[in-house]
Amino acid sequence: MAKIRIYQLAKELGMHNDELLKLLDEMGVAYKSHASTLEDSTAETVKELIGEQRVAEAARRAEEARKAIPHRPPVVVIMGHVDHGKTSLLDYLRKSRIAEKEAGGITQHVGAFEVKTPGGTVVFIDTPGHEAFTTIRARGAKVADIAVIVIAASEGVMPQTKEAIAHAQAAGAKIIFAANKIDLPNADINKVYTDLMQLGIVPVAYGGDYEVIPISARTGQGIDSLLETILLTAELEDLRADPKAEAQGVILEARVDKQAGVLASLLVQQGTLHVGDYVVAGEHWGKLKAMSDSEGTRRSEAGPGSAVQVLGFSELPVAGDTFNWVPDQIAAKEITEERIAERKSLETRPNDGGRARNLADLM
Ligand code: GTP
Ligand code: MG
Repeated sequence: MAKIRIYQLAKELGMHNDELLKLLDEMGVAYKSHASTLEDSTAETVKELIGEQRVAEAARRAEEARKAIPHRPPVVVIMGHVDHGKTSLLDYLRKSRIAEKEAGGITQHVGAFEVKTPGGTVVFIDTPGHEAFTTIRARGAKVADIAVIVIAASEGVMPQTKEAIAHAQAAGAKIIFAANKIDLPNADINKVYTDLMQLGIVPVAYGGDYEVIPISARTGQGIDSLLETILLTAELEDLRADPKAEAQGVILEARVDKQAGVLASLLVQQGTLHVGDYVVAGEHWGKLKAMSDSEGTRRSEAGPGSAVQVLGFSELPVAGDTFNWVPDQIAAKEITEERIAERKSLETRPNDGGRARNLADLM
């Protein structure tokens, strides 16, 4: 291989001659001028060094760009065995944090709600109300950052506790355990610990990684500590979302209200939704006529981590589906019509029923 001259190598690497000469000085390589030739091994070393520098620079820029994106509230799903106190925990959080507004008598069921704490906002999702949540997980959409698994300390781990753990793990959510009902005389926190350890889950109290916070949804005991653990976990996760991106999120729930029409609960994951925006979700689209939050307050916009109820879908969107902002009605119609046509063509494909169904499931 012909030896390479300094200016040739500089050109090849897209550098100025001076830059390369400086690097060679730093490397202690002797040369007369930029027309001098370099040993093959020297040229190779230069290429490697420059490559490494560029990778490091790109990583630094990417990190800078990431840090420029603001933090977003954590999304926390509450799961657990039947009657272990999930809704009671949520009720306690609601009463203690948003009781003033609720005193007006207008409690709107949004499916998910934002709780303002001194340490920041947290978005909670109650699972029992949301059969849809299974769909969300099945589609791999990572809606929840954190799963709070409620275990009644009077009963310990039960079948649906295990199922909840499996779901949370599959969804890649961080798990925090809330050992509830510790106000009851038969509450046994040690049984909760040993039950969990039998599943290979080692609580912090036993030197493991899993927080098990004793709480009472009835008396409120330990709930501040649970909130603190949630906020700390969220902080470590360094959750961020760009409020200026095109709005995107998940349909949590949808129902028809006799008077209002189709009401959908949305979780905004990135970007900002505005009243008047067009969105598509699966095969359905809507123009957002009105938005309200979990306190029933009307909102004109909803940024990342907002859980809002919206009016404006003409047909029921499917819970668990992703929604996306689109610029106008033409785009909304085109996209949904395309999706419908695609599904129909898969459904009518001869001798391919099973596969078509599976493919449709994946859409
Ligand atoms: P599903 O949604 O049906 O799965 O139940 P859940 O987990 O939401 O339980 P829920 O909050 O409805 O509570 C079930 C029962 O336990 C209710 O009678 C609550 O009053 C009671 N309960 C919940 N938390 C506590 C608690 O901390 N202490 C006591 N003593 N009772 C509680
Ligand atoms: Mg419940």
